[in-house]
This record gives sequence, structure tokens and C-alpha cells, in this order.
Amino acid sequence: MSRAAIHALARRAGSLDAKSFRDACSLFASGVTVATVRAPDGSTHGLTVSSFTPVSIEPPLILICIDHGCTFLQHFRACSHFAVNVLAESQRDISVTFACKDEGRFEGVAWTPSPNGVPLLHGSVATFECQLAAVIEAGDHAIFLGEVVNAECQGGSPLLYFNRDYRVLGAR
Ligand SMILES: Cc1cc2nc3c(=O)[nH]c(=O)nc-3n(C[C@H](O)[C@H](O)[C@H](O)COP(=O)(O)O)c2cc1C
Repeated sequence: MSRAAIHALARRAGSLDAKSFRDACSLFASGVTVATVRAPDGSTHGLTVSSFTPVSIEPPLILICIDHGCTFLQHFRACSHFAVNVLAESQRDISVTFACKDEGRFEGVAWTPSPNGVPLLHGSVATFECQLAAVIEAGDHAIFLGEVVNAECQGGSPLLYFNRDYRVLGAR
């Protein structure tokens, strides 16, 4: 879909009030990930992301959506690779840190660089290292399409997000 078509859709959706849209979206249960990237100066950056979606098996593609207001957006736009770390239920504090903390998000967080130097967080249930394939502007977010070059499964129970709160599998 062209950029103009996406903006036309956004304009047409203008009659829907934002609260109704947000309320409906909050009832979609998701996992929780931290997307990470390394800037050209070697600094590491990351944010909590629930908009992760596997897209294609062949070639292996995933996407994440990042708000245009995100402080680190330019690093994702400029990167060759980024990573998506699927959080475990024990990593709720990491999700809060990477969603809220202004600086030093990696302090006290154990991680290993991926083959292309992007932070892979220890304790994640799965990690995806991706080569940036495309950036698609969509309303107030940018969609980052990544071709998965490495995927690892550590296993364990994932952290979930539903109705604006964290959840775990099997809990009411
Ligand atoms: C559970 C959860 C899921 C989130 N998912 C996304 C997302 O998919 N995309 C996004 O841009 N922000 C998402 N956020 C918000 C960002 O993590 C948050 O705005 C982050 O602080 C942005 O980094 P910045 O403060 O440096 O701009 C999410 C937050 C939480 C708590």
C-alpha cells in the first residue's frame, strides 16, 4: 500500500474516537518484547514493544511498529540489524525499564551481542536477530520489516500483556 493510501485511510478513520480504538486494541492479548539496536557510536538502545508480528516463513520476515515519538527511532531507521527479545514471565521489570526509564536502560541487564553486535537479552524465551529489510510509514508509527538472520529458542513461559496489564500463562 502506498504512503498516500495509508494517509487516506488514517483520514477516513478520523471519525472513530481515539478512546474507543485504544479500548478495543487493549483487548488484543500479546506477548511482550524488547527491540534492541546499536547506534553507529556503539551505544545500545532498546524499547518495550508488543507490536511484534511474524510475517513470512520464506523468506523469514517479522515486523515491529515504533512510535514516531520514540527517542531511538533514528537508530532503528539507520541500522543494518536490530533484534527482538521475547520476554519471559520473570522479566516484567525489564519490560517496565525499557518502557519507562529515561536513561541507562541496560544497567543491570545481562546481554550478549548477536553475531552482528545487537544486544540479545539473557533470560528471553526467544530472540530474533534481523537485517532491516524495509521501513514503512504508517500514521504515527513506522513499521520495521526485518529479515530474520538468526533465531534462538531458550524456552520458558512468556510474559503477556492484556487489557493494559501484564499477565502470565494460565492465570486468570
Ligand atoms: C507492554 C508495552 C508494549 C509496548 N509496545 C510498543 C510498541 O509496539 N511500539 C512502540 O513504539 N512503543 C511501545 N510501547 C511504549 C514504549 O516502550 C515506550 O514509549 C518507550 O519508552 C519508548 O522509548 P523512549 O521513551 O525512549 O521514546 C510499549 C510499552 C509497553 C509497556
